[in-house]
Amino acid sequence: MNLISVKNVSKIFDDRPGERLVALENINLEIKQGEIFVLLGPSGSGKSTLLRIMSGLEKDFKGSITYGPDVSAKDFGFVFQQFALMPWLTVEENINLGLVSRAISNLEKKTRVERELKRLNLTKFRNTYPKELSGGMRQRLGIARALAIDPKVIFMDEPFSELDSFTAEELRKELLDIWQEQKATIIQVTHIVAEALELGDRIAVLTPRPGKIEKIVENWLSRPRKLRSEHFFKLEDELYKLIKP
Ligand SMILES: Nc1ncnc2c1ncn2[C@@H]1O[C@H](COP(=O)(O)OP(=O)(O)O)[C@@H](O)[C@H]1O
Ligand SMILES: [Mg+2]
Repeated sequence: MNLISVKNVSKIFDDRPGERLVALENINLEIKQGEIFVLLGPSGSGKSTLLRIMSGLEKDFKGSITYGPDVSAKDFGFVFQQFALMPWLTVEENINLGLVSRAISNLEKKTRVERELKRLNLTKFRNTYPKELSGGMRQRLGIARALAIDPKVIFMDEPFSELDSFTAEELRKELLDIWQEQKATIIQVTHIVAEALELGDRIAVLTPRPGKIEKIVENWLSRPRKLRSEHFFKLEDELYKLIKP
């Protein structure tokens, strides 16, 4: 059973007078339970738009999105490039934010906040405000907040792009550890080929505008990935050839 089916999805932006921008054209995808699915393409290829459509944030489009019987919007967690944290709330309060309106007991909310503080190594910073944190710590918080709701699907839009490459690498490893214990499905947008290969089970390469699927590449590298292996470079080459700037 597929978790999310994308059928014949197209998106035209025509809200500005005299402008008609075809962002996505006839996208077809099936997301499988438990996989890491990566949308890879150059800037402007419609990755963020497609992620927004798949997650239900954007409702104005042609075609259809259908969810499997066990998922709905309340099972979706989000991690964004710009962190999207509330500056006036502490680390702990930011993690709690997504739980506020949930039908779970206060004790359960507290337990989940503690669980995520611990899992993302944020316990010492629980009373700290986002502006006092480094970029890497802010994104840890972004991930902690997404995980607190026990998401079945985590949508991530370039979550590591604002970080230096060492911090990004460390966080990717942690994300993979979490994914292995959580068994959530991850749908991630990136423009970085090596990141797509490190994370993705399958990688959809998008063309420049209008965004279409050039190819869906199966990543046959075993986990944990050997990042500088011959096979890694071979697949990296294959992906670069598919991406048209
Ligand atoms: N709200 C909007 N109004 C008009 N054009 C938009 C809007 N959002 C995105 N676009 C355009 O749609 C195209 C795809 O954007 P986006 O999905 O952000 O691409 P990506 O994430 O791959 O960089 C771009 O040309 C962008 O300028
Ligand atoms: Mg984008």
